[in-house]
Amino acid sequence: MNRLLNALAKNDRVKEFALGFPPARAVVDRFVPGETTDDAIATVARLRDAGLYATVDHLGEYADRPEAVEAQVAEYLTLLERLGAASLTSHAEVSVKASALGLGLPDGERVALENARRICAAADAVGTTVTIDMEDHRDTDATLRLLAACREDFPATGGVLQAMLHRTPEDCRRLSGPGSRIRLCKGAYDEPASLAHATTPAIRQAYLRCLRILLRGEGHPMIATHDPVLIEAALGYLELVDRPPNAHEFQMLYGVRPAEERRLAAVGHRVRVYVPYGTDWYGYFMRRLAEKPANLALLGRALVAR
Ligand code: FDA
Repeated sequence: MNRLLNALAKNDRVKEFALGFPPARAVVDRFVPGETTDDAIATVARLRDAGLYATVDHLGEYADRPEAVEAQVAEYLTLLERLGAASLTSHAEVSVKASALGLGLPDGERVALENARRICAAADAVGTTVTIDMEDHRDTDATLRLLAACREDFPATGGVLQAMLHRTPEDCRRLSGPGSRIRLCKGAYDEPASLAHATTPAIRQAYLRCLRILLRGEGHPMIATHDPVLIEAALGYLELVDRPPNAHEFQMLYGVRPAEERRLAAVGHRVRVYVPYGTDWYGYFMRRLAEKPANLALLGRALVAR
């Protein structure tokens, strides 16, 4: 099922069908709080008022035309300006994808770096940061090079490591130095068995191994998971390791476990919510469905009730 939904996430005909289907839209709204910059700003303000932080993602993947890439960059520049004008930058940063910044274009690494630098500079100017999301294994090295290059001028730029990949413990060791902001997630992509753990127990075990490396390091680990087993284990490790307060944070995707976000914030942890917005919600939404059968049931009920 997971593999099927991940494949559908790349299918344009299914996407067109879903775009014109209002009941599906209501389920989408649970995970994607809006399509416009105004929607994103309003969501961040609501989260701030609830004591939560945000990282905002303008949805859009697989950009294969320079105009699409430029439109992405322009939206991020507008978003950052608006976050600054609304005095929200102490509570919100942005998340970007290398593929949306042009990694897939000819001379893609240079193009993506130029665009990432423009966004990092705009974020810096309003007092906030950027995290570079991680996509599938074909782009891991290029994305880590992009992260390293951005950190030369903007050292607070964050990166993402996916625990499911066999290579990740080594990447965690390399990226656990002072100032290194690393979001650790399981990994959302359907990866080859030769490169990645495939079962839930193996992925959880790998996640905990990577988390221990990051927590023993001197960086700022961003613990991105909704998994109760991992969250409880992380809370246990945090009690054992000697780390300054606020040198870590929990992260969750918008709409998945709002009560858990508030529970963790109430006991003093920084919790950052990943807020996706925009019209290009389809691939993101399908990955959320692939992760949890209950989300699929939610969609099924909405379709039946239409
Ligand atoms: P998973 O979905 O595996 O669920 C594990 C357990 O948690 C299950 O037992 C499930 O029942 C339970 N659970 C889930 N939802 C629940 C709920 N609502 N209530 C109760 N229990 C629930 N990936 C990537 O490849 N690149 C990236 O850049 C990012 N970025 C990113 C940012 C942030 C902030 C997050 C949280 C995640 C990502 N991801 C990502 C996605 C990540 O790789 C992964 O696919 C998802 O987080 C799903 O894995 P989880 O560990 O969250 O739980």
